[in-house]
Amino acid sequence: MQKKNIIFLILIIGCIQPFSVSPKTNRIIFFLQNLFKIKSGQVGSVTPSSNQTGKAMSYYVANHNGGPKNILEVGAGPGSGITEDIVANMEPQDRLTLVEVNPEFVTILHEKYDHHANISIVQADILTFNPDQKFDYIISTLPLTIFPKAFISQYFEHIQELSQPKGIVSYIQYIGFPRIRMFIDAILRKTALKEKMQLIEHFKSKWLLESKKVLFNFPPTWVHHLQMA
Ligand SMILES: C[S@@+](CC[C@H](N)C(=O)[O-])C[C@H]1O[C@@H](n2cnc3c(N)ncnc32)[C@H](O)[C@@H]1O
Repeated sequence: MQKKNIIFLILIIGCIQPFSVSPKTNRIIFFLQNLFKIKSGQVGSVTPSSNQTGKAMSYYVANHNGGPKNILEVGAGPGSGITEDIVANMEPQDRLTLVEVNPEFVTILHEKYDHHANISIVQADILTFNPDQKFDYIISTLPLTIFPKAFISQYFEHIQELSQPKGIVSYIQYIGFPRIRMFIDAILRKTALKEKMQLIEHFKSKWLLESKKVLFNFPPTWVHHLQMA
């Protein structure tokens, strides 16, 4: 396939995806809000994660053995294929906490999930979220490379504190995004991204269990699963 056809196909998928994975209005709101917020460095993606990403992210939740599980989703947005997949793999005695910083997304999360007694919704920056419980599974879609270096270090340290010993932490890393950003940084004479990538790699290599590539996502993404000691 020619290069321009591949780019066209990616654009089509990107346009269709927001309208095909959860209730239509939420997706339109998500899509429009992200178009404006991507520049502020808070959202980092213009479409919600796909159902395929959801399955890859909640793989360990779905294959849980043992007693009730306590799950945390970080940066839940307005609820995506990931949240849907986690909920689909919950038993009545399991608990899920959704942490999201954006109040508009939190309103949508309340509309969608308030009728589930075992789902809690918290509007907070994850770094200020200090519950009196630890989690067996932490699933995060924070686009780490768009945050400052100091945030990235604090984030991994905080996530380790929130995790049960041997808990599983799953997160995404968009494929190609860093390269595009590095190219822009090079034009702007910034070197920050390379250092951030090295920092993320440092934490990842400490605890990496396995990585899976998800191509049917916009943008395509790696899903990394870590096991923090
Ligand atoms: C790439 S979007 C992912 C949204 C959704 N989980 C999905 O997969 O489609 C990242 C989300 O993280 C949220 N977010 C950004 N910084 C955050 C922070 N410090 N604490 C909690 N949530 C944050 C954003 O508002 C956004 O909804």
